[in-house]
Amino acid sequence: MSVTTTNFGTVAQGARGEKVLSEPCIMVILGASGDLTKRLLVPALYNLECDGLLSQNFAVLGTSRTELNDEQFRENMAGKEDGLEKFHTRQQFDPAACDRLVSRMHYTTTSISEQDFFRLKERVAELDKVYGANGNVLFYFAMAPRFFGALCENLYKAGFRDGPGWKRIIVEKPFGTDLESARQLNEEILKYWDEEQIYRVDHYLGKETVQNLLAFRFTNGMFEPLWNSNYIDNIQFNVCESVDVQGRGGYYDSSGVLRDMMQNHMFQMLAYLCMEPPGSFEANAIRNEKAKLLQAVRVYEPAEVPKFVVRGQYGPSFSKEGSVERPGYRQEKDVNSNSSTETYAAARFHIDNLRWQGVPIYLRSGKALWKRGTEIVVEFKKPPLATMRGSSVSRLDSNRLIFHIQPYQGIGLTFQAKIPGPTLELQQVDMKFGYGDAFKASRYTGYEVMIYSCSRGDATLFSRGDLVEAAWQIAQPILDYWSSHPAGDEFPNYMRGSWGPKAANDLVRSEGRRWHEVVTPEVLERSPLFQGADPLLLRTVIISLRSISVEAGETIIEIGTPAREMYLICQGEAEVLDASGKVVSTLKDGDFFGEIGLLVSIDRTATVRAKTQCDLFVLEQGDFSRIMRDHPQLAEAMTNVAKERYQVTVSASQLMGPAENS
Ligand code: BG6
Repeated sequence: MSVTTTNFGTVAQGARGEKVLSEPCIMVILGASGDLTKRLLVPALYNLECDGLLSQNFAVLGTSRTELNDEQFRENMAGKEDGLEKFHTRQQFDPAACDRLVSRMHYTTTSISEQDFFRLKERVAELDKVYGANGNVLFYFAMAPRFFGALCENLYKAGFRDGPGWKRIIVEKPFGTDLESARQLNEEILKYWDEEQIYRVDHYLGKETVQNLLAFRFTNGMFEPLWNSNYIDNIQFNVCESVDVQGRGGYYDSSGVLRDMMQNHMFQMLAYLCMEPPGSFEANAIRNEKAKLLQAVRVYEPAEVPKFVVRGQYGPSFSKEGSVERPGYRQEKDVNSNSSTETYAAARFHIDNLRWQGVPIYLRSGKALWKRGTEIVVEFKKPPLATMRGSSVSRLDSNRLIFHIQPYQGIGLTFQAKIPGPTLELQQVDMKFGYGDAFKASRYTGYEVMIYSCSRGDATLFSRGDLVEAAWQIAQPILDYWSSHPAGDEFPNYMRGSWGPKAANDLVRSEGRRWHEVVTPEVLERSPLFQGADPLLLRTVIISLRSISVEAGETIIEIGTPAREMYLICQGEAEVLDASGKVVSTLKDGDFFGEIGLLVSIDRTATVRAKTQCDLFVLEQGDFSRIMRDHPQLAEAMTNVAKERYQVTVSASQLMGPAENS
């Protein structure tokens, strides 16, 4: 038997290349009346059915305290308005596949009491006979973690461990709320069940682009030799969410982004990206290396936390008239009005092993930010500029390998290329691989591969107890420090829709680096200057942009100083002041400024100051001139603005721009 990649993940292949089905089993979903079952688990099972991967000897038994019969449960799951027809992820809905799946779905009402679990056992035994599931049972805990211990005990007492067939348990996150509770939970579960029977879910491992991290690293000979501190300058993990807490304030306020995103999803990606090559692709070989990697991450002393970790919480957004448009976190439903819960965190970690010693590992994640996007940026060391002596090249950039995890899925590599022409001038360019261009695949929930692998006893994509504890070990001092130092007036410290708190920039800047913001054409097109622009122009501008954040009140450009760059406001407001300090205009999202000094090579004619927190893209003089030369339509648009704003007429020769180091 070999292993191959299908359009949702890794499935086994028989000797003759045929698909290998999930194993026969009864899948018992505990907590089946909740949202997870309807929105994710049933659509995932439906995808497996459509792809022909679900065994005929597979059936579902949903259970929860809600009183329902089989028919009502089926209706709930398949219903047009609020069921599979709404939540399926395929381009076209297949009613026949839906019927085939739903006819194998059953329901029984169960409370958490012991006696009910004996009844549950009888029902499973009945279904086992009907479907010929060989005694195999897959339990899916779709309930709050506080019930996990009791569920394990009751299943054990009801005798589910006995008899023929395998018994496996999928446990949803969060696995504990801190190191102590995670250890306790592991203890409670492992009192009745073996580690091999426990499948701890992290839905990030169900993502194709995350699974591909291992395939990329270990099946392409050219990258692994460079994967160490000799060649890599720093690694950045960025999980940026534009959504706020979306009505989940009650849960979120006792969680925060460190528990909700970093300790689990982001540490999983960190482990995949940085672990040592495993001895094989067997589940335990991979899981050993992941655990070893997390165990090598330095656990901070409490006093080190403020030096290496930044926290943030979003404040409200305001309309143009100054009224609150959308609430800040402390005003969200079910959130403490004085809450110190962080909705944003940025951290610098150290991996204390031979491979990564000295390479900064940066993580950041937050809610209510400027865009949705998850990326991992591997920044390579720059070559010495001295190698270019005797040429006009005055700056060399790093090569960056960017894993676009979502929503855009792909991989990009940036490097410098010589601009065609008789002189030696360089430009950053990129090579891109997009999943959509290379593969024909439907969209999946990520749970397909989880259920499928568990049914086949493949634990590769699930967390082992030691990994979960290692992850909590790293998070614990940060949680401790924050709980003993409430945020108070420090929060809110970033505006909805921004890039996060400025302190996150200072964190990387203090080490001579900066966050790499992945800009998309859509973001650039928010500026009228770039609306409907040629894709080549957008791509060239995107790759040349640098990002900076400034606090309200900070001066961005000062009158009378030389002009070296122009700015584009991604988010925020800035005021333009004349020589007497009078505000002459206000600029906002999508506006640009600082272009006149570059267009006509004169010193700054006005001061520009941030009125609110401002997130800005910067275009350096050299790139500016080059882009103006190559894209006359942009030059024309810009000179028109200059004419309106400053009554300045710019000649074509001026647009050629001064050389970068003149
Ligand atoms: C969940 C968190 O685990 O992951 C949510 O509880 C978060 O707060 C979500 O929004 C993000 O998942 P994804 O797949 O949308 O990146």
